[in-house]
Formats: sequence, structure tokens, C-alpha cells
Amino acid sequence: MMKADVLLGLQWGDEGKGKAVDVLAPSYHWIARFQGGPNAGHTLWMDGQKIVLHTIPSGIFREDCMNLIGNGVVIHPPSLLQEIKALRQHGLRLEGKLMISAKAHLILPGHRLLDQAFESAKGDHKIGSTLRGIGPAYTDKYARHGLRYGDLAGPQGKALLETAHEEHLRQLKALDFELPNNLPEHVQEWMDAINELHSDFAPADGSWLLNQALDQGQKVLAEGAQGSLLDVEFGAYPFVTSSHTTSASACTGLGIAPNRLGTVYGLFKAYCTRVGSGPFPTELHDQTGEALRRAGNEFGATTGRPRRCGWLDLPALAYAIRLNGVSQLIITKADVLSGFEEIKIATRYQGLDNHLSPFPADPSKCIPEYTSFQGWTLDNSNNCLHRNELPSELQHYLTYIENQINIPINYISTGPERNQFIETK
Ligand code: IMP
Repeated sequence: MMKADVLLGLQWGDEGKGKAVDVLAPSYHWIARFQGGPNAGHTLWMDGQKIVLHTIPSGIFREDCMNLIGNGVVIHPPSLLQEIKALRQHGLRLEGKLMISAKAHLILPGHRLLDQAFESAKGDHKIGSTLRGIGPAYTDKYARHGLRYGDLAGPQGKALLETAHEEHLRQLKALDFELPNNLPEHVQEWMDAINELHSDFAPADGSWLLNQALDQGQKVLAEGAQGSLLDVEFGAYPFVTSSHTTSASACTGLGIAPNRLGTVYGLFKAYCTRVGSGPFPTELHDQTGEALRRAGNEFGATTGRPRRCGWLDLPALAYAIRLNGVSQLIITKADVLSGFEEIKIATRYQGLDNHLSPFPADPSKCIPEYTSFQGWTLDNSNNCLHRNELPSELQHYLTYIENQINIPINYISTGPERNQFIETK
């Protein structure tokens, strides 16, 4: 039986999933996003040009790849339309290549305002949300008064939006939120956007399409967004996103049965970053953290916010691998550590046996213990094709991680371009 593979992030997002999916996409017929929404920013570099995808799967640049926005994703129509238009300007044809699940929920104009209202009400306890309306959209979904992409196709769409919008206005009023003057224009822009989307991309039965594809022997890759440590269930709640970011979510977010999941690719950066608030045990508040931010250009792809930086955290990585059933690892941004004299890995938290101990529900008080490694220099212009051509210090770093985690690192990303990706098999 053909199985769908899953690719997802093992940290707090921004692990470089977009590029990895783009590189692996030629081996797949379908790339399907299963959760999250335009809070994601999947960055790809095409011939020196930066392209950021927020909702569209990262297989869109490959001629023969079908792309599905699955039912588990939340869609903001004006942002999606803008993304589509930007891709068209790059000469891409999307019709017939991009499918949108009828069951994907919508981020309504009021959701974004409610996100702002809830965040400002939290004061110092802010989550650091991207304010894209993700939390309120998922809240409405689970409270059973959300609207789905397919619901708005047809003459009843306008009335459905108006009813939901009125309810949001009522909630915003109760929160004493000052409405922006251009709200009526935004609501109109939102309605125009969904109508335009519907005329080019009819609501699809994503689950049926993927199951059919698998039945016919086609290959499917489920693309995750955010990272496992931001999962609403398993992240350090409440400093999480509002979706399930772990592999089980590929089943519910796409309509694929658990026995149809195959390889789980887990991506992690050679160090750690986090954007927004919440526990981050290995965070560096010093010059080294600053140097990592600069070297890795660690600024949010969606919001532009500076990312918090720190050393690789083995207990957190082991936890994420366990949650996802990862079978292959992909390490990214190994080049960013080039030039650092000393590199560290947190190998356990004080008071716990080792990195395989149960991961604390609140890691905010965890004090990591580190092992030091000698740094390396990686000449990025000289693209290595084999792992054994990498600097010996980097090879030692990789072998150390594999030995601790007991899973092979099958791919090493050493730069932003497609050809800076080493398959180690
Ligand atoms: P929200 O999902 O936009 O509400 O944000 C909740 C938390 O998840 C915040 O800390 C965000 O910074 C973080 N977050 C959301 N999406 C991403 C992402 O794609 N990459 C990294 N962090 C993210």
C-alpha cells in the first residue's frame, strides 16, 4: 500500500521546511499542507531571489507537482490571493496545480482583530502571536461556528459572512476594542478575494484526492508548518500556536488514515531559534546569541521580528522525535555555525537523567548542561556533494547527534539554494 510521507519541524518553527520540501518535491506527485495558516513563512531562494510562501505548499515551483491546501489549514482569502498573484508574476501557472480543500476553515476579518484584542488584553503575558487571526479562527472551528472555504461558494456566502462578522463585532465591542476606520473596506476586499479564489480554484475534496492518488501508486508528501514545540497539545502551553503541528495532524488535517503514513522527515536547525514569547531553555542572551542572529539572518519571515537564538537542545529534540515518530532527520543551516570557535549542545537538563528523560510540561525553569564542540569553517561557495567532504569538526557534530538520538541524519542543508543540500545515503 502506498503511504504518504510527512515532513515537519522539530523545534519552534523556521527550521527551513520550505526549501527542504522544494528539494524533495520532484520525487512526489502531491505536496499537501495539513495545518496552520499564514502565520507560517516558508522561505525559498530561487536563483538568488527570495520567495516566501505562507499558505501555498512548497511544491508549487515544481512543474509536475500537485499542491493541496488541506482541510486542517486556516485560510485568509486576501493573503492567499496576494500570494497567488505574486507567484503568477514569477510566471507560475497555478490553475490545475493548486487545490483547496472545501473543508479548510476561513480566517475572517474579525478574527485578526480578535487576535489583536486578546493579545493586548494579555499585557506582559503575551504569546507573541503573529496576529494573523490563527487562534480565533481555530477557536470558531472548534466552537462549531466557523466558516469553511466551500461554505462560501454560492449565493448564501455573503449572508454567512455577515452573520459571522456581526458576532465578531459584538465580541470586539465587549472587549472595548477600537475598530479600524477601514474595516468596511477590508470586509469588502475579503469578500471579493474569496469570490475570485472560488472562480479559479473550486472547493475540492482533499481527502478523496489524496486517497485516490495513493491508491493509484502516486507519492504524497504532507508538509507541516510551525514546529513541534509549538503544538497546541505538546508545546509549552499557552506559548503555542492553535493547531496540532505534530505528525498525527497529517491524518486529521488531510483525511488520511494513520496506517497510510510512511516516512516522517524531521527537520531541525543546527542551533535553535524561537520567535514570540515562551520558554526557551538554551536561549543565549549574549554576544553569541547576537552573532547567531546575524549569521543566520534570524528575522521572522512573516513578521520580520528578530528571532531569539540559542544552542541546539537535545532533550527538546528527542521529545519532538518521540512525538512524531521521526524516521529520517534533516539538519539545516549547518553553514550558519561556520566561523564560531566553540559550539555547544545542551545534552540534558539539570536534575534529569539525560536527554531521553520525560520532557517537562513547563520547561521555563530548566537549566541545560552543555557539551562543547570545536567549531568549523564551511566554504559555502564550494558546494560539497558528500558528507565526507564536510569539515571534520562538522562531521563529528553530526555523528554525535546521531549517536545520541539513534536516528540517521539523511540530509544536510548547507545554504539557502536548492543545490546546497547533501543527501548522506
Ligand atoms: P500564532 O500562531 O500566530 O498565534 O502565534 C503563536 C506563537 O507561535 C507565537 O510565538 C508565534 O511567534 C509562533 N509562530 C506561529 N507561526 C510560526 C511560524 O511559522 N514560525 C515560527 N513561529 C511561529
